[in-house]
Amino acid sequence: MKKTFVLFFVMLCITSAIVAQQPYIPTAENLKNREEFQDMKFGVFIHWGIYSMMADGEWIMNNKNIQFEEYAKLANGFFPTKFDAVKWVSDVKAAGAKYICITSRHHDGFSMFGTKQSDYNIVDATPFGRDVIKELADECHKQGIKLHFYYSLLDWKRADYYPLGRTGKGVGRTETGNWESYHKFMLGQLTELLTNYGEIGAIWFDGQWDQPADFNWRMREIYDHIHSIQPGCLIINNHHLAPAEGEDGQTFEKDLPGQNKSGYSSTATIGQLPLETCETMNNSWGYNITDKNYKSEKDLIHYIVKAAGNNANLLMNVGPRPDGTFPDIAISRYNAMGEWLKTYGETIYGTRGGFIAPHDWGVTTQKGNKLYVHILNLQDEALYLPMQGKRVVTAKMFLDKKPVKFTKAADGIVLQLGILPNETVNVVELVLE
Ligand code: GLC
Repeated sequence: MKKTFVLFFVMLCITSAIVAQQPYIPTAENLKNREEFQDMKFGVFIHWGIYSMMADGEWIMNNKNIQFEEYAKLANGFFPTKFDAVKWVSDVKAAGAKYICITSRHHDGFSMFGTKQSDYNIVDATPFGRDVIKELADECHKQGIKLHFYYSLLDWKRADYYPLGRTGKGVGRTETGNWESYHKFMLGQLTELLTNYGEIGAIWFDGQWDQPADFNWRMREIYDHIHSIQPGCLIINNHHLAPAEGEDGQTFEKDLPGQNKSGYSSTATIGQLPLETCETMNNSWGYNITDKNYKSEKDLIHYIVKAAGNNANLLMNVGPRPDGTFPDIAISRYNAMGEWLKTYGETIYGTRGGFIAPHDWGVTTQKGNKLYVHILNLQDEALYLPMQGKRVVTAKMFLDKKPVKFTKAADGIVLQLGILPNETVNVVELVLE
């Protein structure tokens, strides 16, 4: 009897080891969603929480060492009188964006959705008492905008987030060492997020970098749990590393794939999964009342073009104010992006990065037999394109369809642009054989 039990136990251990190491095989639906994700090209990131009331970004609790009991009292005053999901989704649509990624729970540990896993959430802990995520989800589904959930892995309030990570050291948590309970809490919340809000395009994790590289987050269990509820849901993790088994996309924080201007991307080798780059419109994710450092309309349009040329989506952030409205300047910048996309959308949506690698002068995107040459910064009236053996049938300006002369050159062509038209982006459309 004893022997049988030992044998059974050994078999169980071996089986679980094999299961744990099994490669993740995405479903057909998941693969289709990856393609659709890449086609969308542009999403709006929303950082909103009780930190918005402090108007100094979403890290304020950590940065000012606010004790968690005191910070939690912010919830008592959270009443975003002007929150209107219809307006948000309409603004996002006007931007030409196709999806929203919203903070369901950030590092401060406050859940912006009605969760049963803890009463530290917008429904139970604020006088507002409305599940804004539910209202947003309903409106997104109605208006055909995909919804992604940002979800923080680290938590500056819960004592069972243990061992404590490298951030949030001064917020007064006491270590109780119950990871099992924290893991269960996260699985419970993810179940809610994936069952109460309809179809979810992606779960977007953040905060894995809070623990040492060899820390066992048991991410594969979390990933499998997500895929068991919504197999089509994409998993993206902002861990700043190469993609891990079980993930469906790769994001780059404040960098285009392959760059490392932010200092976060040094270990983020580009994998084979769909790519995304996330960026702030000023220098803050959460609402920051003094940060007026907004990127210009031109820079924002260039950013979306560069992302597409690098085969990536752009996830451009807004930090709504505590009253629930987007800052006016953010709306006007999004509108400018939307106006540009109304004319040039064909050269962005549904494309993939062109076979000509990004250059200083600009980037290319590609769809079927069309190659769109996006000129962002060129001092000459001619442009050499390495065609890698591909033959060009016609070349014209995308905007007015005027033919562009071109001559053959070694391994490519030279576009004879004449005087460069003075557009934000000058797009030449090539039809390939
Ligand atoms: C960083 C920050 C976080 C922000 C995220 C967005 O990881 O910790 O506050 O939400 O970037 O990419």
